[in-house]
Amino acid sequence: MISTGLQTAAYILASILFILSLGGLASQESAKRGVIYGIVGMFIAILSTLLGSGVSGHIYIIVAIAIASLIGMMVARKVEMTSMPQLVAILHSFVGLAAVLVGFGSYLDPHTNELLGSERTIHLVEVFIGVFIGAVTFTGSIIAWGKLEGKIMSKPLAYKGRHAVNIVLVLVSIGLGIQFGMASGTEGLTSLYIMTAIAAFIGVMLVMAIGGADMPVVVSMLNSYSGWAAAAAGFMLGNDLLIVTGALVGSSGAILSIIMCEAMNRSFLSVIFGGFGNASSLASKEMEGEVTSISHAEAAKLIDMANSIVIVPGYGMAVAKAQYPVFELVQLLTSLGKKVRFGIHPVAGRLPGHMNVLLAEASVPYDIVMEMDEINPDLPQTDVVMVIGANDIVNPAALEDEGSPIYGMPVIEVWNARRVIVMKRSMAAGYAGIENPLFYKENADMLYGDAKESVLAIVHELKSL
Ligand code: TAP
Repeated sequence: MISTGLQTAAYILASILFILSLGGLASQESAKRGVIYGIVGMFIAILSTLLGSGVSGHIYIIVAIAIASLIGMMVARKVEMTSMPQLVAILHSFVGLAAVLVGFGSYLDPHTNELLGSERTIHLVEVFIGVFIGAVTFTGSIIAWGKLEGKIMSKPLAYKGRHAVNIVLVLVSIGLGIQFGMASGTEGLTSLYIMTAIAAFIGVMLVMAIGGADMPVVVSMLNSYSGWAAAAAGFMLGNDLLIVTGALVGSSGAILSIIMCEAMNRSFLSVIFGGFGNASSLASKEMEGEVTSISHAEAAKLIDMANSIVIVPGYGMAVAKAQYPVFELVQLLTSLGKKVRFGIHPVAGRLPGHMNVLLAEASVPYDIVMEMDEINPDLPQTDVVMVIGANDIVNPAALEDEGSPIYGMPVIEVWNARRVIVMKRSMAAGYAGIENPLFYKENADMLYGDAKESVLAIVHELKSL
């Protein structure tokens, strides 16, 4: 058992480590250090909580931690990089569920009944709000998991008047909250149950109403909600460290959501209120032009003749694990005196920074990896753009077709280059489930096949030229 003073000092140290961890995660070079700060911080946090006063049943807690750590390690080892967002979404749902359970547990705790006056009221408000946020986070995250895993359709499910329904449900919840606050003993349990069901329904509807291309913002928004749910649990348990940690996660998730909304030209409010104002009444344009395809040998010739080449990777590069051959291609082209750079879209792939992580893994130097805003002005002077397993992030409909669900989202304007080679397996749509007029453009050619095999074939062809 440690003294309260020592526990407070440990909590402050853990909080500092969490802040340093977030700071470290801001850049690729310091990310590893950031993760280590986080691990050490969490270790100190758990240990000092376990050894603090008021904690009993250590053996059960240790067994539970051991089992959970084992499961966590096994899942993390097994998970594919492309399935990471689903994992994050399901982990958020656990935080939400934990907040709900802590809320119920705290309400039923005999100590709660001993509280009097304003102290009891404040505690009941904490419980009610904590359970509400927790339930929204829980079901919202499960729906997000389903959409990312492809188990639930990614098309937005929006019915007329849903905002009015949500507002009425929130008002009913406030009414239930008042009833809950005034009830004596544990008589407010029924109100708490009804509110939990309502909040769970709101969570489902909020995320169901969001379309495929906006899912990255939803994941970071649920991340933020899970932080607030943890902070609420911290208030209920009277644990300062949980409040600080929850607030850090909540606010950093909110900041990330805002940054991503800006990158995708979406209004933050429209996303948090479930696709508010997103639906367009216009029909999408018909495709015009013809699709042309080329062979690996023809693609290699085009690349051989080019002086400047830009590679735009997307989700398909991650699926095919093509980053290693892509770097081999880059090294070969650089040795032939060509200028090769990468153009990275902020939501390429399935998680923030997905492409950057893959390219760093394959040892691609950071200085040839450009962001969308840096590369777009250079594309008209670029000879060849190789689009490797990307689709939505290079879709001109985002700029040209007002009826498109992704209209307004900034994209990498690859069609402004002299030639575009689109490397994917078929004409299939991307995550947003919409057609791509790029494939029909005169200066674009399809190179069908798995991204890794295609890149290896091009390398082989280039070497034999
Ligand atoms: P997508 O639009 O999903 O397109 C990827 C393309 O890769 C598909 O059209 C697919 O076409 C192709 N592909 C799949 N496997 C392949 C393989 N083995 N070899 C070659 N090609 C392959 O990806 P994107 O352009 O990267 O855009 C990302 C999308 O995901 C956006 O809509 C974004 O909003 C959404 N999203 C992003 C995130 C984050 S945070 N990045 C999170 C959730 C959702 P074929 O089947 O024809 O091969």
